[in-house]
Amino acid sequence: MTVELTRRGNCALITLNRLEALNALSFSIIRDIGAALDTVAEMEGVRALLITGAGEKAFCAGADIKELRSRPLLPQKRGAELGQAVFAKLDNLPVASVALINGYAFGGGLELALACTFRLASRTAKVGLPEIKLGLIPGYGGTQRLPRLIGESRALEMIMTGRTVDVGEAERIGLVNRIVEGDLVEAGEAFAAGFTRYSLPALEFARRAVQRGGGLSLGEGLRVEADLSTLAYRTADAEEGMAAFQEKRKPEFNDG
Ligand code: CAA
Repeated sequence: MTVELTRRGNCALITLNRLEALNALSFSIIRDIGAALDTVAEMEGVRALLITGAGEKAFCAGADIKELRSRPLLPQKRGAELGQAVFAKLDNLPVASVALINGYAFGGGLELALACTFRLASRTAKVGLPEIKLGLIPGYGGTQRLPRLIGESRALEMIMTGRTVDVGEAERIGLVNRIVEGDLVEAGEAFAAGFTRYSLPALEFARRAVQRGGGLSLGEGLRVEADLSTLAYRTADAEEGMAAFQEKRKPEFNDG
């Protein structure tokens, strides 16, 4: 199996496992990621998704360059649309996702991490969008998600120079949330525990408000926030959270 789906407590864990090609994304792996995401969305009790790469060396070295070569234009466009659709599915998953970048995250590999809600990276991680060196540009969301995350100028510098960014710089510019020492999966579980104890509807509304607002004017975004915050207010969990505050006890959320 090149895409393994396992369970770690209340997290699902997807591991890309194609060591001989540094976990590069063949179209078949992309389809398998899509199928794994469908399963995650249905898994009972899963409150977050972790994604990592097998081995010490790479999270994912990007699209499979050998498979990309000499393709007619139309299948190539369909391939870009497939990658984009699977990464959008990840972005839109009911639960938040954490990329655990354990080594190289280049091209489509970084784009996979960018489609996650959060990114943690090991001290040895290196990230970049080197497509320009191949005469290409990113095709699985990099030109859209990276500028939204780190700003247009920094994103264009990475895209137009294709340069490799080390983990210190990646953290400084907000491309990764944290640098992790030690076991990355354990760190991912601990990071996820910072939010998984809260009400799933509230967590989802918060993500939707930020995601939808990203493409809107401030006024329109504020209207989305007013709607979603009112929806959150109507949940039993909100009632429980506010009652627990007043009664000076811990809330017991039931995802309702
Ligand atoms: N596609 C296919 N095979 C890849 C690959 C990729 N993206 N990256 C690495 N491999 C393969 C290598 O070909 C090699 O296999 P062979 O020995 O059979 O040739 C094996 O993985 C190990 O790689 P290296 O020997 O190159 O390992 P290294 O340690 O010397 O270098 C690296 C590591 C710097 C990551 C280097 O492999 C590299 O530059 N890879 C390509 C990175 C890249 O350009 N990614 C962008 C792809 S295009 C894209 O992603 C488009 C998009 O937006 C969707």
